Amino acid sequence: MTPPLETPRLFLRPLELSDAPQIQRIFPRWEIVRHLAARVPWPYPPDGALSFIRDVALPAVARGEAWNWTLRLKSDPARIIGGIDLRKTDNHDNRGFWLDPAFHRRGLMTEAADAATAFWFDVLHFPVLRTSKAVANVASRRISEKQGMRMIGVTERDYVSGRQPSEVWEITGA
Ligand SMILES: CC(C)(COP(=O)(O)OP(=O)(O)OC[C@H]1O[C@@H](n2cnc3c(N)ncnc32)[C@H](O)[C@@H]1OP(=O)(O)O)[C@@H](O)C(=O)NCCC(=O)NCCS
Repeated sequence: MTPPLETPRLFLRPLELSDAPQIQRIFPRWEIVRHLAARVPWPYPPDGALSFIRDVALPAVARGEAWNWTLRLKSDPARIIGGIDLRKTDNHDNRGFWLDPAFHRRGLMTEAADAATAFWFDVLHFPVLRTSKAVANVASRRISEKQGMRMIGVTERDYVSGRQPSEVWEITGA
């Protein structure tokens, strides 16, 4: 199960079905989805958040294959500003995240990613975390750099915005 976590400025709260209406309001924006994996439907359907949480995210959490949080500022905990998740997969895709553009470039996702990554190693005890990101996704690549991740390969992957050069980054536990 996903436990609550916190960082200096954020609460990471376990994803719930009741989060769907807020996520449906903020998530479906080109700025957020363009560099996400093509499994995200686009155009985003009116029940996209609800069906994702109910049929995909929470069942994976229940199977012990994923951990999924909403992000909220401690100064405004009722408001969802993004999400982060961890996944047990051998597809170079162990972590994903997104943030409401109104809150970009304040270091918030770096905080959230540090907390989720610490959970991956210190609590779940996985030996390595790998993520894939579009080469064009400068902000996401920068977070990996700041976390001390290593770029281990370049390939092509299908994103919402089409097939693109993509990098695999990894970090191993201490
Ligand atoms: C990726 C994302 C979560 C980053 O969130 P964030 O809270 O703004 O990230 P942070 O502020 O912690 O760090 C971003 C870093 O990238 C840098 N950055 C962001 N946009 C940049 C740009 N266009 N050019 C250069 N640097 C950029 C920031 O300056 C910062 O680096 P710094 O701390 O050295 O200054 C956010 O951009 C997002 O939601 N993007 C859409 C979803 C997505 O692509 N998710 C990742 C899929 S792999």
